[in-house]
Amino acid sequence: MNLYEKLAKELEKQIKNGAYQFGERLPSVRQLHRETSMSISTVLQTMYLLEAKGLVEARPKRGYFVTFSPNQNVQTPVVYRPTTKEGPGNIEDTIQQVYGENDQHDPITNFSIGVPSSKMLPIARLKKIVRETMLDLTDACVHYEPIMGNPYLRRQVAQRTSLWENGLSPDDLITTNGCMNALALAMMAITKKGDRIITESPVYFGTIQLAKSLGLHVIEMPTHSNYGLDIEEVKKTMKKIDIAAVIVVSNFSNPLGYNMSVQSKRALVKICTSHQVPLIEEDLYGDVFFGTERPLPCKSFDQKGIVLWCSSVSKTLAPGYRVGWIAAGKYTDRILKSKLYHNVSSSSLSHEVVARFMDKGRYDNHLRQLRVALHHNLLKYLQVIQEYFPENTKTTFPNGGFLLWIELDPRIDTSQLYEPALNLGIKYAPGRMFTLRDQYKNCLRLSFGLDWNEQTATALTKLGLLLQHQLVSY
Ligand SMILES: Cc1ncc(COP(=O)(O)O)c(C=O)c1O
Repeated sequence: MNLYEKLAKELEKQIKNGAYQFGERLPSVRQLHRETSMSISTVLQTMYLLEAKGLVEARPKRGYFVTFSPNQNVQTPVVYRPTTKEGPGNIEDTIQQVYGENDQHDPITNFSIGVPSSKMLPIARLKKIVRETMLDLTDACVHYEPIMGNPYLRRQVAQRTSLWENGLSPDDLITTNGCMNALALAMMAITKKGDRIITESPVYFGTIQLAKSLGLHVIEMPTHSNYGLDIEEVKKTMKKIDIAAVIVVSNFSNPLGYNMSVQSKRALVKICTSHQVPLIEEDLYGDVFFGTERPLPCKSFDQKGIVLWCSSVSKTLAPGYRVGWIAAGKYTDRILKSKLYHNVSSSSLSHEVVARFMDKGRYDNHLRQLRVALHHNLLKYLQVIQEYFPENTKTTFPNGGFLLWIELDPRIDTSQLYEPALNLGIKYAPGRMFTLRDQYKNCLRLSFGLDWNEQTATALTKLGLLLQHQLVSY
């Protein structure tokens, strides 16, 4: 870390812990220059960094002022306890409404979408690599790949695990068509109709829909919005009933955005190992961290091959390329069979392109920029939410990814407000979609992966005003 980044980090900490409050002036550039012995230009770089993150603003001839205070009005939700009551109706209708094709509302600000905006993706560089790949490879990637998948990609992914206690080898990895395909192969390989699986709550709607389609019973577990699955509850449940698998999004989960602590990850792996229950870990947001280093996955603590680690580049690079992978430990052979019957092969061209992109550090360079852009967005979103959303709004404060979970006054039903919001040109994901239980009606998920511009800021403000208006009408 450079000197200016260190100073920025220290000041950011003090802004976030309230030592410097909204509207207060930071020490002047000259003062910081004297106190830290850094050059004026280094101190200025610190300020530019804080400015880019939406934490301070420069006022001509007066200095830098704090523009952020996350905890002034907006609180963080705490533990979500699933109710025993089943949800009314079918959440598929809501999913169809939000993600179906028939979008006649234009222009729309789509906060429901689960990928970063195209402007944050390295499209020009990818185009170049696609062209180079086609020229370099004599067979133009027309053939089926070996069943394990592209060896070059598996090597690149294995290299990315070199900081783990027990890093992976290329032979531990099987490529898949995205993370959803990895999840589906895992669930098909280790569960059978009628089995029970454990998930967090709220949970990614794709997971519950897939489980339902396989005839599985989903047991949603209490989940803390900062730390994730309640491990003690998982333990109790496993002692009482047979569980076929646990599914968890360990790093910057969808929708809560939490990051499980290292202790929780270790504990979960230990419980699953002692009960011989496979742990399916989805880790597709882990590369988008806002701290200093990538959080480790549960897989890195897995000694017995009980964890099936699933990931993809869909949230960081190219959702349409369908490039993902799974490290399935002792279930590898079952996954290979499942892949053979369901997929035959992954998509050769896009997997080769991503391997090339990862090689030579291009992926890491891109990730560095993506993280700064998304962190900046998060802070901007929180500012608007604090200012325009109703006073008793609670919002998560994720340390990575690009999903915000918002809990509103219990009288608000975000499914009912969906149409009025759409009429204002705003889409979001209603909370009902993230459970099979009868809850989260007063919640919604927002993506902060959109470009931060006037349209986004206005749409977010309008959404806040709509919610305020709704409350007044009760
Ligand atoms: C938890 C989770 N799993 C899977 C997926 C789908 O990933 P992919 O596009 O790599 O299949 C998503 C996308 O939103 C997700 O959030």
